[in-house]
Amino acid sequence: AVTVGVVGATGAVGKEIVDCLNKSSLDVSKLRIFGSSRSAGSTRDAGKFGEVPVELFDVAAARECDVVFLAVSGDFALEHAKAISEGDDGAVVIDNSSAFRYDKDIPLVVPEINGECTKGAKLIANPNCTTAIGLMALYPLHKLFKLKRVIMSTYQAASGAGQPGMDELQEGTRAVLSGEREVAENKIFAHPLPFNVIPHIDKFQENGYTKEEMKVTWECRKICGLPDDFPVSCTAVRIPTYRAHSETIIVETEEPVDIEAARKAFEEAPGIKLMDDTANEIYPMPLTATGQYDVEVGRIRKSLVFGDNGLEFFVVGDQLLRGAALNAVLVAEEMAK
Ligand code: HSE
Repeated sequence: AVTVGVVGATGAVGKEIVDCLNKSSLDVSKLRIFGSSRSAGSTRDAGKFGEVPVELFDVAAARECDVVFLAVSGDFALEHAKAISEGDDGAVVIDNSSAFRYDKDIPLVVPEINGECTKGAKLIANPNCTTAIGLMALYPLHKLFKLKRVIMSTYQAASGAGQPGMDELQEGTRAVLSGEREVAENKIFAHPLPFNVIPHIDKFQENGYTKEEMKVTWECRKICGLPDDFPVSCTAVRIPTYRAHSETIIVETEEPVDIEAARKAFEEAPGIKLMDDTANEIYPMPLTATGQYDVEVGRIRKSLVFGDNGLEFFVVGDQLLRGAALNAVLVAEEMAK
């Protein structure tokens, strides 16, 4: 049995980690919740773990745990993750921020793809939500037909910006619909999100891509063990949905693609739900993927651009679950095997 600590349990991802732990096969003897001085002293309803007191975060206390989930900022992770995990008696830290994702010595893990990288590791990085969701479908295809190039367009929910993003979408939508405002206010997003689509997530880079888009490129390469120049191009767009990210994915492959074999691979891959019956208007949508562990895959078709060596499809996953909390808890389960 393990003692588990969650730092940031009151945030959108932290709450889902506690929920996933309630359903996990991980044998948790004790759940500890760490927070800032603002939340310390209060308690949190943690399901089967009861009312858990929020303790003021402290490295020594976190080190008493066997596993610590960090669902906080990259700055916090940079400051504390190594101190929590170092030495034989340090805790295993699973960090949800991007602080360590691109560090060569730190595994970046989607358990179904490269779970073996967790062996012996004390600090593990959880991928960006968009990458984790897309890779659930991309990896089975890569194994069968060997990817040559990947083009992705994403439609990302407000929850990618955490609870404040979800609140801004909800309050802004209400204010516009009630006639209180003509255009919603924005603090979290670059522009008002209600009734809008914003082709801008995270900071613009020198090459014209945003950091969110480059994360997809960098992380696909690292997790799948692809070369440093493997071509992955993404356009990441924020849309007014609540917590599931959608992705159009177009691949060119080295081997010709057999559509039925691709469909079968999706069907058999863990963590995927095939939603691909256009005759009955069944395809992936945020409405159906929200709250689900599986990533939905559908709209599977031969590519008009890449012909026999290509495939186009649509993927939707709950970004707080597969894209964050669930992936982190699955990493912990993998390590307990
Ligand atoms: N960066 C993502 C987003 C969240 O803003 O949608 C991924 O964890």
